[in-house]
Amino acid sequence: MSGCGGGGGATTPAAPPPVGTPPPPPPPVSNAPATGLLRDTFRNNFQVGTAITNANAQSSSASADLAVDQFGMITPEYELKLNNIAPNEGSLDFAEADDLVDWAIGNNMTVRGHALVWHAATPDYFLQGSPADIRLRLEDYIAAVMDHFRGRITIWDVANEVVSVDLYRGDEGIGPDRRSNWFEAVGNADYLDWAFRAARAADPTAQLFLSEYETENAFKRRWVIEILQRFADRGVPIDGVGHQFHLNLDTDPALALAAIDDVDNQFMGLVNHITELDLSFYRDPGTCWESETNCIADIGPTAPDGMLATQAQILRDLFTGFVQRSSVDVVNFWGVKDDDSWLNDVPVERYNYPLLFDRGGDPKPAFLAITDPSYVI
Ligand code: XIL
Repeated sequence: MSGCGGGGGATTPAAPPPVGTPPPPPPPVSNAPATGLLRDTFRNNFQVGTAITNANAQSSSASADLAVDQFGMITPEYELKLNNIAPNEGSLDFAEADDLVDWAIGNNMTVRGHALVWHAATPDYFLQGSPADIRLRLEDYIAAVMDHFRGRITIWDVANEVVSVDLYRGDEGIGPDRRSNWFEAVGNADYLDWAFRAARAADPTAQLFLSEYETENAFKRRWVIEILQRFADRGVPIDGVGHQFHLNLDTDPALALAAIDDVDNQFMGLVNHITELDLSFYRDPGTCWESETNCIADIGPTAPDGMLATQAQILRDLFTGFVQRSSVDVVNFWGVKDDDSWLNDVPVERYNYPLLFDRGGDPKPAFLAITDPSYVI
């Protein structure tokens, strides 16, 4: 340690460079953030994670390097979904998921398991037969998958996107349970009880989540709370709520933070995870999601500065709010670089800019806004 008092120590001055020696080159200029900055910034508050695919992780891509440097956790983007592990009746294929999970653990990251039950990732065979047949198939599947990853995955989204209201479909009147393929096949929402009970039995040490989109919408959130209350009444085990938070540049951060507060205010002892955070540059009408009509025009390959600044401010406000809420244990982005994002393809193909790193792997204003309090947006 060198003090700055400069009190009389016998230091040998460095020899002057020989005449004619060129000055040393300046340090390389880099926009790259210091290693570990993101995971370090919030170390005392929550884990920061990202979704990543196995292909991306194994390809020594910039996203893989950034994930290892910056994030403490990953969520396999599709490798753990039912249609990937069990595309056909009677066999389970863990190869891709194992690859990715072991990559993460080998790089000192933890893994969020996503997702055991999701309507969009359920092959037809899985929902055939009587409700009793479906129940048995589901219980066997959950037992097998959680057993396979025991000790490697300790957090599971047991159910994903099971809540009504889908605001784009206008199904306000139907009650808390989404009329999904699961609901229709079983005849009611009992499959949720089966799944959570099976998950608790399979690994009593695992944390179990219900993860949902648009919890930032107060109308929809009432249904989430109603399902949580039903779980409590029936003794269905659950540890936390996942808020996907697929937001956009019009989102008022206060509405998202209200979703956390609403869960806290139930006093059910549940924790909150942000499971799929991204901020789209498009605010499409519902018809764009429903039928790919009236979608907002492609912004093109250059992100406008004003939109980058808006994104940065929203994320700074969100992270400030997350830090203030002790029930927030995990904040997981849905991808590393802008070009990783599903939002370049969904609901239509367009350039989107929803994440913290740009297509070149450089940190965006949003990254700086959340990791550096002195950064001026
Ligand atoms: C998406 C992935 O990002 C895509 O790569 C995949 O093709 C489909 O699923 N809500 C969820 C996530 O819960 O699982 C979805 O992920 C995005 C919306």
